[in-house]
Amino acid sequence: MKEQISSLLKASIKALDVKAEIPAGLLNNLRVDRSKDKAHGDFATNIALVLSKPLHQSPRDLAAAIIAHLPACEQITQVEIAGPGFINFFVRKEDIAAQLMQMRADERLGVAPTAAPETIVVDYSAPNVAKEMAVHHIRSTVIGDSVVRVLEFLGHKVIRANHIGDWGTQFGMLIAYLERRENESGAGMDLSDFEAFYREAKSCYDSDAEFAERARRYVVMLQSGDKYCYQMWQKLVKLTMDQNQSIYRRLNVTLTEKDVCGESFYNPMLPGIVQDLAAKGLAVRDEGAMVVFLEEFKGKDGQPLPVIVQKKDGGYLYTTTDLACVKYRVQTLHATRLMYFIDSRQHQHLEAAWLIARKAGYADDSIKIEHEAFGMMLGKDGKPYKTRSGGTVKLRDLLDEAVARVDALLTTRGSSLEGEARQQVINNIAIGAVKYADLSKNRLTDYVFDWDLMLSFDGNTAPYLQYAYSRICSIFRKAALSCGPIVLTCEAENELAAKLTAFPEAVRQVADKAMPHLLCTYLYELAGIFMRFYEACPILKDGTPEEIAQSRLSLSDLTARVLKQGLSLLGINVMEQM
Ligand code: ARG
Repeated sequence: MKEQISSLLKASIKALDVKAEIPAGLLNNLRVDRSKDKAHGDFATNIALVLSKPLHQSPRDLAAAIIAHLPACEQITQVEIAGPGFINFFVRKEDIAAQLMQMRADERLGVAPTAAPETIVVDYSAPNVAKEMAVHHIRSTVIGDSVVRVLEFLGHKVIRANHIGDWGTQFGMLIAYLERRENESGAGMDLSDFEAFYREAKSCYDSDAEFAERARRYVVMLQSGDKYCYQMWQKLVKLTMDQNQSIYRRLNVTLTEKDVCGESFYNPMLPGIVQDLAAKGLAVRDEGAMVVFLEEFKGKDGQPLPVIVQKKDGGYLYTTTDLACVKYRVQTLHATRLMYFIDSRQHQHLEAAWLIARKAGYADDSIKIEHEAFGMMLGKDGKPYKTRSGGTVKLRDLLDEAVARVDALLTTRGSSLEGEARQQVINNIAIGAVKYADLSKNRLTDYVFDWDLMLSFDGNTAPYLQYAYSRICSIFRKAALSCGPIVLTCEAENELAAKLTAFPEAVRQVADKAMPHLLCTYLYELAGIFMRFYEACPILKDGTPEEIAQSRLSLSDLTARVLKQGLSLLGINVMEQM
């Protein structure tokens, strides 16, 4: 309907007799919005306000002229001018009802597959080997995974890229320490506490000259392909990724072992990249290192920003890897959109790498490269989220705590669930709450991690939405009737109907902007509108005419399906009973 109204408006504006030129950009960005208040119609546009300046006309006069020139359309029952010059559209109720019936018959709930499928690389999660997953990895993992689900649902080809930190000079030290631990313990060892492992390795390196010497030798050996060092390195990668994989499973995140494509993968390509940048005159030797000077980024002193791509000692850097990575993703994977879910502190690094990649011709202007940045997770004190003793919060511990809290919560709420079923529900609520707390905020801002808020059954939370879903399921358990044709008979029904038809847009927005909170807000509003509808419009009450009860059951069923589908795109499960 939105598109339809928008083309009617364009036709009308074309037919207007105006002297001044209409800037093309204005018409391309013509906005038709859903009205918040149904008394003001179903849709509204501000186009008359936007055009009034270039056309030198008062907005209300212009609105009147646009309305006068609108081509006829039988689905629109009324058009009026509002306030300073808004145009409101009223859509025929039968058409909305028919649209809902179509949605009901459609497994995809009206969300059409995209007309222009792309190959999209989504770079997310990216933890580091032999390190605990830190908070920024949790955010990247959860937000990235929901965008991946949405993109795939829309029919794009998505390549998940888990760009793990699995290369660098620290591996000499880690291999030497793994070797020592294995010698001490005899056989296999438990590497469950990466923090301790890394700390101990570092302290051996700092205090034991012989150990440090061996560590340095191992780096060189690893880099020149020595078999023993390579195997030890592989062991470290596997130990880390096995543990992370179990966290992904627990979090209901779709990443698998196959999606790992870490820094080490690009390592063999790095000499070629530096050579190529030098041949293209982009990288020059400066104090022994190979450096690209970027005029576009001025440092503090007003000088072009120097970006080192190879150190004096021959070593490569994080940026060099990201250059190779762009080239590979575009030229070998043939992606046309690259999305990086990385914490906002890495913004300048990424922008610099991508600018070099563009200059070197690794990605032309048709390729979209996007930093889907996000802020930090803060504690209630407004400082970065840490354990009481100031350490990194282990994701495992965080999830364990969520489960314990939900367990207690169910007991307080007097839940009658037991055994396996209870465990399942606890898990769904706990994981859902933690993920949703992150997903529901605009990712660009920092957010405060607050157990009480995220586990509340009121407000914009996963438990609230899951509860709304299970409440609708309970209506169906009690109802003697089944769903029937939809007829809209009152305001509460109209409002619910209008919200339901907006689902496809909410999904598409997540794909366009990489912002899952837009879908969260939609679902939260939908659940609220449903609750109001359910209070105002009896379904199970005696005396409700059968066709009306059946229509309301259809509206309820559609709401439940939209909630379930929407939450599933966010990676969150629903339950029939909780
Ligand atoms: N491993 C990095 C970190 O822990 C994130 C990597 C992100 N991806 C990339 N292509 N740079 O911060």
